[in-house]
Amino acid sequence: MKEIFLPLITGPTISVCDKIEYREEEMRKKLTNDITLTSLANTHAEAYILKSPDGRKAKGQFFTPPEISNFMSGLFSLPKTSAIKISLLDPGAGAGILTAGFCNALLHKDYKKVTLHIDLYEKDVDVLPFLKKTVAACHLKFKDRGWTLTYKIINTDFILANINVAQSQMLLEANPAKDRYDFIVSNPPYFKLNANSPETLLLKDFTSGQPNIYVFFMIISMLLLKPKGQLVFITPRSFCSGLYHMKFRKWLIDHYSIENIHNFDSRKNVFYNEDVLQESIIIKVRNTKPFAPNQKVTVSQSNDSTFSDHTEGKFLYADIFHHADAFIKIPANKEELAISKILQKWNLTFQSLGMSVSTGPVVPFRAKQYLVNSADSKEKLTPLLWMHNIQGLDVRWPLDKAGKEKYISTSDQTRNILLPAKNYILLKRFTSKEQQRRLYAGVLLGSEVKSKYIGIENHLNYIHKKNGDIPADEAIGIAAFLNTSIVDCFFRSINGNTQVNAGDLRALPLPPLAKLQEIGRQVRLQKCLPGKALDILVARILDIPANLLHLKDDNEKDKTGDTDSKRLGAATCAAK
Ligand SMILES: C[S@@+](CC[C@H](N)C(=O)[O-])C[C@H]1O[C@@H](n2cnc3c(N)ncnc32)[C@H](O)[C@@H]1O
Repeated sequence: MKEIFLPLITGPTISVCDKIEYREEEMRKKLTNDITLTSLANTHAEAYILKSPDGRKAKGQFFTPPEISNFMSGLFSLPKTSAIKISLLDPGAGAGILTAGFCNALLHKDYKKVTLHIDLYEKDVDVLPFLKKTVAACHLKFKDRGWTLTYKIINTDFILANINVAQSQMLLEANPAKDRYDFIVSNPPYFKLNANSPETLLLKDFTSGQPNIYVFFMIISMLLLKPKGQLVFITPRSFCSGLYHMKFRKWLIDHYSIENIHNFDSRKNVFYNEDVLQESIIIKVRNTKPFAPNQKVTVSQSNDSTFSDHTEGKFLYADIFHHADAFIKIPANKEELAISKILQKWNLTFQSLGMSVSTGPVVPFRAKQYLVNSADSKEKLTPLLWMHNIQGLDVRWPLDKAGKEKYISTSDQTRNILLPAKNYILLKRFTSKEQQRRLYAGVLLGSEVKSKYIGIENHLNYIHKKNGDIPADEAIGIAAFLNTSIVDCFFRSINGNTQVNAGDLRALPLPPLAKLQEIGRQVRLQKCLPGKALDILVARILDIPANLLHLKDDNEKDKTGDTDSKRLGAATCAAK
């Protein structure tokens, strides 16, 4: 078989790797040993990792485990005729494990005749010898079945080489791509691109801010699908929510149908050989007009790449894809979906209640010279609040924690980053998926603060009223509501990050104000802490059936063990 290398279209110089570095007998020996193509590709990836241990992160090189490759190719609907002629694209092919998975899937079928052409894009010249070995093995297997496999390994930048398809799409011209594909499979590279990178500038109509390269792989690949063509990608979940990728999501939802989404629960155990801490999903898209709201999408879950606890369900398209915010909500189960639907019926938001969600203005490294740990200082001081000051539903201060100063000086230099002491709901900005909840909220009551100002550090968000103050019961009711598994469940379905950003909070639907006030009153009376009892109390007031809740016994005690720490207001703080 002849290997062809495409001529350069645009982008960097192609470095041609033109020696076929395998011997047919050797390859055949390996293959008869009952090894599958995906396991073989995995050994090639491992051999490459041993040879090039460094620099893979910068190249976005995280290789797919064989189980995931097999799962991904299992999502394709393969033709039912006995003779097929099809094409496959594998952009960012690495050592070729996804191509191997696709060939494996075909080899398990009893087609009489298969004619397959594969284009594999790979920018890194060092991985090419391993990729060639994998594709050569696929070729041999096909040959043995009397099938035909042709391929091109294209050693160039996939995005820059195909940018013309996206540009013509923007000009609404007919897609000029001559090479379009029936099937596309990819685990694209992922790293943030500079806002001024050529890719970002060329594709600015699809994304904003500082997008991630994987989204550009998705966009170009979708444009390279034949009508009815199918694409399966494993990517980070981050494109499903947030502002950067909103234009992309809208375009995706408006032009394609999404047939499957698989969600990995674990952030750590998906790419088991790799140092990847990222929520990943697998998505299958078909180039047909979008599904109607009453059609169904298959949503599956597993903890990790072993798929040992794999579950799946069918959900209405309308429940997952929301045109208003273009969020893609991925419910873990029917209960999560039911809660999400109840919340979506509420039409209040913080903004409609006259409240704002802001991020703490004290950035420690910028304000370093004004941060003070001891009240003995001669300067005028203001209490400074950090994430660890949120304890249960309270804000406790002072609390000792290494490197977290308790005060910020009160001066003309700091006045613009200090806030008036009034009622605030403080929220941690960073939590991990492994923590019980995404949201940890505490109430600060201005009436109890002995200082004129308060400092809020940048790892906290705060909810406040610009004009006036949030009444105490309302503030307690809101904080209690935010700490429930009801809100947690909603955020888990829309938010792929561990970070709950101010934008997500602004989009959160809120129940009627009278209900929030009632929650506040009851929480005060019953001295509830976040956990099972609070969940039940809030669910009862909001008419949410308790059987929908994942009740957790996580009542939070003051874990500081610091007997001097008090609710901020009750502390006889040395603030002046
Ligand atoms: C996340 S790895 C996945 C490799 C392989 N598909 C797998 O699943 O194991 C992404 C691959 O894309 C390659 N790559 C990165 N940027 C690229 C670009 N702009 N064009 C083509 N390939 C690229 C990297 O060298 C890397 O091998």
